[in-house]
Amino acid sequence: MRIVIHPDRDALAEHGARTVADLLRTDGPVSLGLSGGSTPRPLYERLRWETVPWERVHLWLSDERWVPWDDPDSNGRMASETLASHVPASFHRPRWSEHLTAADAAAFYEADLRSVFPEGNPHVVLLGMGDDGHTASLFPGTDALDAPPGRWYVENHVEKLDTWRLTATAELIRRADTVILLVAGADKSAVAAEAIEGPPGVYPVQLVREARGEVIWMLDEAAAADLSAETPTERGV
Ligand code: 6PG
Repeated sequence: MRIVIHPDRDALAEHGARTVADLLRTDGPVSLGLSGGSTPRPLYERLRWETVPWERVHLWLSDERWVPWDDPDSNGRMASETLASHVPASFHRPRWSEHLTAADAAAFYEADLRSVFPEGNPHVVLLGMGDDGHTASLFPGTDALDAPPGRWYVENHVEKLDTWRLTATAELIRRADTVILLVAGADKSAVAAEAIEGPPGVYPVQLVREARGEVIWMLDEAAAADLSAETPTERGV
């Protein structure tokens, strides 16, 4: 695990975009799981200008809100506006229809993803973290945390938000070659420190501790403020 600290959100986005682009410059087809929320927006806006073999890249969503594609809350809409509509990559989005259930949409999407990385190893997965320690749409105390073995994408009812979500499962995220967590803001510093340094099994985001591949925490200084001096970190450049 690596922890990279950046002076501010812009530096985080700049270094994150370069890091992701470097990871995508590889032979053969390659996939990139896109986090939702607000933190990754500036990273996606920079990433679209990077020299990447986009025609061989498959973009997908680490999680999605169960809303129409054009809904302002849609992660797919945000990813399309900031990145996917600007590059010749394949963009895989979950279906939405008022005649579909979230469970069916998650199952259809999982089948789509099995055609993207049939061996079950996503190349790069970007994640955020909420101030409750959730990641993707794996919120504390929700059913998706106990998804059946073998599932890669499931529906999840988030009671505190009174919404349905679709989310990659912990099993799929742990199979990635590289997981990058993008965390910014002072409101996340306490949970970030506990998630990184504290006992396991407290926050969903700690699932990355069992990841198969490389895990990179990319924080701004505000989110890293509560890390102890003993925790090894790097400066993002
Ligand atoms: C979502 C996300 C979610 C997000 C965190 C952090 O659909 O909202 O995937 O997991 O990454 O809530 O969100 P911010 O980046 O907006 O703080």
